[in-house]
Amino acid sequence: MSYERPNISAMAGYVWGEQPTDTRTIKLNTNENPYPPSPKVDAALGELTGASLRRYPQPTALPLRESLARHHQLTPDHFVVTNGGDEALRLALTTFVEPGAGFGMAEPSYSLYEVLAQIQDARVVHSPLDGQWHLADNFAEQMNDESVQLTCLVNPHAPSGTLATAQQMSDIATALNGVLLIDEAYVDFVDPQIGYSAVPLLAHHDNVLILRTFSKGYGLAGLRLGYLMGSPSLLAPVMWKTRDSYNMDHLSQVVGQAAFEDQAYARETWRRVREERERLRTALSACGLTSPESQSNFLLVDCSEAPITAPALYQALKDNHILVRHFDTDRLRQSLRITIGTPEENDQLLAAIDQALSNAALTR
Ligand SMILES: Cc1ncc(COP(=O)(O)O)c(C=O)c1O
Repeated sequence: MSYERPNISAMAGYVWGEQPTDTRTIKLNTNENPYPPSPKVDAALGELTGASLRRYPQPTALPLRESLARHHQLTPDHFVVTNGGDEALRLALTTFVEPGAGFGMAEPSYSLYEVLAQIQDARVVHSPLDGQWHLADNFAEQMNDESVQLTCLVNPHAPSGTLATAQQMSDIATALNGVLLIDEAYVDFVDPQIGYSAVPLLAHHDNVLILRTFSKGYGLAGLRLGYLMGSPSLLAPVMWKTRDSYNMDHLSQVVGQAAFEDQAYARETWRRVREERERLRTALSACGLTSPESQSNFLLVDCSEAPITAPALYQALKDNHILVRHFDTDRLRQSLRITIGTPEENDQLLAAIDQALSNAALTR
């Protein structure tokens, strides 16, 4: 006898990237920042006392929302702070998608979208990306035809790293009948010279939400901190109705604010990641392992022209204590998603790949 709701019983849960327990493994499989958070985080942690945890936290994370508002030149009412970006996604689904109604996404993208939609018992509407990882020209029409109430688009895209323009996002938001959530988990790593920003869209679109996280850009995946930006009217039900009563603990609010206010430190880590991203992309492509131009902190490396299959290269790297991500789906089976590491980690990765390719060529 099962007590689960039928939709929960029918679904498989989210599959995490592997978490090695040893300290020697080079972990390039879950897109964490290779650099630690700002030293101001250590200072804030040092000042925290057990006694400060006796009371409930500030219920709406107001001091942090004020910091976010100053930075983005918006008001605190444009923000809801969440327990990681993942909670922001769950809140958006709970608030905007009725059970049985449509939830839209491009395929492939972040696999948690589908899992959360299944929990909500929503009808998932996929729109396949083309060979260049571009959205279908009639993407919004496809969503409207299926009465989609919420669409999630990750930009820069995961797992390819490619970036759509803010104008494309704006055009889609205009055409959609439902809400558009732009998942900007990786936006901190976009080359500033491109001048990408979807934030101005919020002034003109009352159906746009932007998701951000501290897990990647601010080196705080272990803290669980993210936020939603949107027009105050769109966010009000999330803030006042669907959110857990105290969804952000005191520690995350204080430590997150310390990290966020040290923009200079964070920006320097982003610059270093971009520098290594270009170096790694060029070096891998010289070995026949090409990847689309990435504006993220990872590369999606195509192994179809290599003397070794993607699963075999994944295993060869793992044998060398280097973890990367392989997705066993039709579209991604011959690719590996590799997080940008420190220069030393990337050197070891390149050496291990070089070795694996030579071994494979010898045994052919
Ligand atoms: C595309 C995308 N969106 C959102 C998230 C959520 O991140 P977090 O819950 O760590 O803030 C992730 C995490 O990997 C992601 O890849």
